[in-house]
Amino acid sequence: MNRNDIGVIGLGVMGANLARNMARNQYVVSGYDVDSNKVGAFSQDHGSLIGFGALNDFISSLRTPRQIILLVPDRQVDNSIEMLVPLLDKHDAIIDMGNSFFKDTERRTKYVEESGLLFIGSGVSGGEYGALHGPCIMPGGHYSAYQSIEPLLQSIAAKVDNQPCVAHIGPRGAGHYVKMIHNGIEYGIMQLIAEIYAVLQLAGNASAEELHQLFQSWNETELNSYLIEITASIFSKIDEETQKPLIDVILDDAEQKGTGKWTCQNALDLGIATPTINAAVEARIISSFKKQRELGAKHLPISRKMAYIDKDQLFDAARQTLYSGVLCCFAQGISLMQAASREYDYQLSISTISTIWRGGCIIRAGILNDIAALYSDNPDIDNLMFSDRFGTELLERHQAFQTFVKLAVDAAVPIPALTASLSYFDAFRTERLPANLIQAQRDYFGSHTYRRIGKPGSFHTNWYKA
Ligand code: 6PG
Repeated sequence: MNRNDIGVIGLGVMGANLARNMARNQYVVSGYDVDSNKVGAFSQDHGSLIGFGALNDFISSLRTPRQIILLVPDRQVDNSIEMLVPLLDKHDAIIDMGNSFFKDTERRTKYVEESGLLFIGSGVSGGEYGALHGPCIMPGGHYSAYQSIEPLLQSIAAKVDNQPCVAHIGPRGAGHYVKMIHNGIEYGIMQLIAEIYAVLQLAGNASAEELHQLFQSWNETELNSYLIEITASIFSKIDEETQKPLIDVILDDAEQKGTGKWTCQNALDLGIATPTINAAVEARIISSFKKQRELGAKHLPISRKMAYIDKDQLFDAARQTLYSGVLCCFAQGISLMQAASREYDYQLSISTISTIWRGGCIIRAGILNDIAALYSDNPDIDNLMFSDRFGTELLERHQAFQTFVKLAVDAAVPIPALTASLSYFDAFRTERLPANLIQAQRDYFGSHTYRRIGKPGSFHTNWYKA
């Protein structure tokens, strides 16, 4: 008794895989779950994994000060904390590694700390495979609480250039906040890739095999990333039942658990534009209206104007377009983190976050090396697009981006995330936007006043007077 290094509550796939990862790294792990089958399977898996079906036994098996990781569904986090608090002692730490909403983490941190315990809210990315082989870990909370668990987190995290993909993100809900932004960017990039796929398939007649080859080759370019790599692999998978490419038999109805939506809601709250991510969330919503789309296809048929374009040229424009879209998506996520850092006093380091995002997580990408270097040299840069490096890259690809978008519009392929990215880039370099007209309209119907160029103060016009 009192000898095991760490406790894990929730022995589902993520919990069990993280525990296995710890056991591989020489930690002795106590596991607790209400499901006795999971407890049994856990204990049989590895000599350093010990399962418990009784909470008291689980707690007394841990050496003190105790460290207990929660990997339970979001709706059970509060209950688990309620259950644990009376059983724990001062300096024991609860570490929530689920996909919790950052404002819940703020509330839970306060509650747990008031009980004399320590609390860490940690984002974890990398899915089941990452949990087992090395995830990216984004812990937030008191630095001293983080320090007590740092060696364990460093040992189980993914490594890039021998550096573990974990760092103290900031106080309170900062870790879960940054994980939420990670997911927002993930939604954006996934949608951008899906739109490129739609255009190449519909306007370019690309087969699954061609797409497989193309994405594989893109993974050796500026697009190098995990999402491009898995997309290449997806296109090569054949369905055993039909012998068709599996992608062609998957229903086109995208689901979502809510982290992308939270990102957009928070962006609206903080007044930051994240159009690519918003478009991605809305595209998933529209995809879920399958029945309506079927009706629409029948009653409002699409006529596609297919401009001729050489396939190699099309593929090249697609690569440049996708890269530009991805840059815009990162720019939006980073701008939002900078605003949140000010609003919630999270003290976020974009350089540190980009550095740990290079490995283990879903949005890991070669480009993050350069983003990390950019923010390390210039932490206060307003927008990634304004840096010499990325600004030049976007300008160089602008014509290809426009060509690709025009082609998609002519072929009537919906590309909400691509157009949102292009307009985001163009809007931020348009000195005079038509917002003067919006101001005039507001003043016209609501006397909301407007400001004038070159004159201080607020003005109102009696628009009704002839
Ligand atoms: C990760 C993923 C992970 C999960 C998403 C899926 O970083 O490992 O983002 O958190 O796969 O929750 O989210 P949706 O169901 O909303 O697509």
